[in-house]
Amino acid sequence: MLSQQTIDIIKSTVPVLEQHGVTITKTFYKNMLSKNPDLLNYFNHVNQNQGRQQTALANSVYAAAAHIDNLQAIVPAVMLIAHKHRALGILPEHYPIVGENLLGAIKEVLGDAATDDIINAWAEAYGVIADVFISVEEDLYQKAEENGGWRLFKPFKVAKKVVENEQVTSFYFTPEDGQPLPDFEAGQYITVRVKPTGSQYYANRHYTVSQPSNNNEYVISVKREDENSPAGVVSTFLHNEVNEGDTVELSAPAGDFTLQEGNNPVLFVSGGIGVTPLNAMLQTMELGRNVTFYQSARNEQSVAFKEQIEKKINELNGTYRVHYSDAQGYVTKEDLAPYIQPNTEVYVCGPAPFMESVISIAKDLNVANENIHYEFFGPLMTVKALANA
Ligand code: HEM
Repeated sequence: MLSQQTIDIIKSTVPVLEQHGVTITKTFYKNMLSKNPDLLNYFNHVNQNQGRQQTALANSVYAAAAHIDNLQAIVPAVMLIAHKHRALGILPEHYPIVGENLLGAIKEVLGDAATDDIINAWAEAYGVIADVFISVEEDLYQKAEENGGWRLFKPFKVAKKVVENEQVTSFYFTPEDGQPLPDFEAGQYITVRVKPTGSQYYANRHYTVSQPSNNNEYVISVKREDENSPAGVVSTFLHNEVNEGDTVELSAPAGDFTLQEGNNPVLFVSGGIGVTPLNAMLQTMELGRNVTFYQSARNEQSVAFKEQIEKKINELNGTYRVHYSDAQGYVTKEDLAPYIQPNTEVYVCGPAPFMESVISIAKDLNVANENIHYEFFGPLMTVKALANA
């Protein structure tokens, strides 16, 4: 238990640390990665260069600290992060390294203002927060191992590589050990670990499993990101250099963005490649529940899974709308209003601005927070979720 004095110090210094956020986190990462280059096998180098991950990790330590006397409040947000940590193979022994370097950076940036009392209070609070993560993650590791699953990464062969359209290619992975694969829930992701040509370190990316479970293979559908700046390291490597017969390493399915049971109407709203988890959920649905799929894509060339969605929606007597943003612009409140009642469960996935806009439209149309479900491909949203917990 933390003393009241420690809690008071933490709460009063959170705003100071947030104010120096960027400087502290830059110092923290620079020091940590130069002293522990092995950690470059875990951190996404692109997110690093853009400063996204830096802000995400440290900010969520502060956000957690702001709830230090009621850590229960942040458990849903911790789950989201813990799934990602488990998928990446983050272990208890990594936590002291992050703690030591974060405290070191706080001291270095704040100078004399960081008194011993302040540093000791933060060391204590970090320890409590780290213990929450470590124990939630241990549970997830144990779950991953159940039913023939595995704990960290294991080798898979690329059994099939199928071009879906100009931008999206699907990869079918089968385990090299020939063991049956554990079931996963539609909407979950697997993490691909590869060593891109010329790189000394592993690069990891999470990809939604795009086709239903069949115990023999996992399928992911990867969008090309080589025209983006910066180019997607793993997606480019997969598209250009990974072929049928090659080996990649995968961690077991993770994530809690899955379809909730119940009878409420369901609206799926996807932006771009955010269609993958939503299509995976749709494919598991049975006749009886009212369902609408609203798919936004830039244009006809980039729309993915259209035929598969259309076929399933017909079977379910649902409604399917395709929205081409090049021609129609952004998705608006008027576009979505016909498909939203106050008890509709809204599932959203896509780029950050798209999701933020759809979430705020759903709220405007009186959908309760607990009926809005989302998954974001990247670290920023997590911070907001945690900060708003
Ligand atoms: C209490 C301590 C920690 C907190 C609050 C924390 C928080 C976060 C957050 C918010 C994210 C972003 C999740 C997302 O993508 O949505 C993240 C990702 C990540 N965390 Fe942690 N983390 C902690 C400890 C650690 C430790 C000990 C390690 C390992 C050294 C670690 C490694 C990572 C990595 C590699 C990612 C993915 C980053 C990427 O995009 O490359 N974290 N963490």
